[in-house]
Amino acid sequence: MTKIEFPQDFIWGAATASYQIEGAYQEDGRGLSIWDTFSRIPGKVINGDNGDIACDSYHRYREDIALMKELGIKSYRFSIAWPRIFPEGTGEVNAKGLEFYESFIDTLLENGIEPVCTLYHWDLPQALQDKGGWRNRSTIEAFVGYCEMLFRTFHGKIKQWYTINEPWCASFLSHYYGEHAPGDKDLQIAVDVAHHLLIAHGGAVRKFRELQYDGKIGYAPNVTWMEPYSSRQEDLDACRRQNGWFLEWFMDPVFKGKYPSFLVEWFREAGAELHIVEGDMELISEPIDMLGINYYNGSVAKFDKEAGLIQCSTMNVGYEHTDIGWPIYPQGFYTVLSYIHSLYGDIPIYITENGACYNEEPVDGVVSDQRRIEFIHKHLIQLERCLTSGIPVKGYYCWSLMDNFEWAYGYTKRFGLIHVDYNTLQRTKKDSYYWYQDTIANGGFDI
Ligand code: NOJ
Repeated sequence: MTKIEFPQDFIWGAATASYQIEGAYQEDGRGLSIWDTFSRIPGKVINGDNGDIACDSYHRYREDIALMKELGIKSYRFSIAWPRIFPEGTGEVNAKGLEFYESFIDTLLENGIEPVCTLYHWDLPQALQDKGGWRNRSTIEAFVGYCEMLFRTFHGKIKQWYTINEPWCASFLSHYYGEHAPGDKDLQIAVDVAHHLLIAHGGAVRKFRELQYDGKIGYAPNVTWMEPYSSRQEDLDACRRQNGWFLEWFMDPVFKGKYPSFLVEWFREAGAELHIVEGDMELISEPIDMLGINYYNGSVAKFDKEAGLIQCSTMNVGYEHTDIGWPIYPQGFYTVLSYIHSLYGDIPIYITENGACYNEEPVDGVVSDQRRIEFIHKHLIQLERCLTSGIPVKGYYCWSLMDNFEWAYGYTKRFGLIHVDYNTLQRTKKDSYYWYQDTIANGGFDI
């Protein structure tokens, strides 16, 4: 038997995001976000679902925090809804929005759970979108103003901040593929938005440093890991582009102050220019304290001229899939973290998201989600390899604490350790919840 053991001070956590769980979309002065608008456009979200009610965590957060406490997590990663703080994006602050988060954060602290805040998890105020959203540089300024308000209000209570969650999704998935709000389908817009998101990240970091509050700040990009299908040069190149698009495109600017030139060239040939203004790269590369990594899947990459922008398609090599159709590739978790470490050195890493979609329902009050347990188990084994290799991974946040609104998939995809019945809003602990509870309590497991 081998013991997979994590250090005593390893941070075990779980994660969610405001629009996916809160509901109460019109309450206490909240403004509309781009997801309120987007989810109402027919055909954008499966079944026409939206986050109007979601898990109703806005009203049920005490119950949710009790479940977190019982689970044994040390830390909870949540996001603040910008439109609750500034309903118009800028200008008049909504005191009730701040009050809500204040009592939520206090409740976490009273229960011994560290609040870790994501500043932007995709719910941009619609009022800003009406002025161009992330295409418009004025949104950067608005974001920094919103962050400043939160730093000033919650410093001393929140000690870990993540600026932008998954900038690839907030740019390319949302503005090139059009699958997420606001739904543009234009490469130039996506490239501009990606750049602006990185500047917004850097602007928030700089503001945080100026204020000199106690605490740490980073951001949370999403990565996958592709292996080339073959050693043919065209497959190697396609694979390099695919990995680089998720990884170096969003990390080189932050850690090295420049974009990967092979992709700049590739996008230029596809008709999109980078619009860099003096000072942008300095701002983007403001040093950060920690790197959040969201990892769910990986696969095998094959050159495919017809496969859109990157000319790369995924080859089916028989990996199993979760219920959302993503290939399960735990080894990629180790490989991608090793790769990041080799490129960017000893920056502390937190796994800000990892988890699986499996749609098991309760049967007589029991949710037997063995497949989720296996998924997390396999990924934690890979994570322990990282620790043994000296990669400074400091914590792991399971996505997600509970089932929630899965963006364009609406309520059809479940990622939670806790099952949510969307009719009654009843919470039911799944088997994976109990398994994770044991893992936390034992600091690992035997295999
Ligand atoms: C990434 C996102 O940050 C989160 O909002 C989403 O629900 C999960 N991945 C699963 O897709």
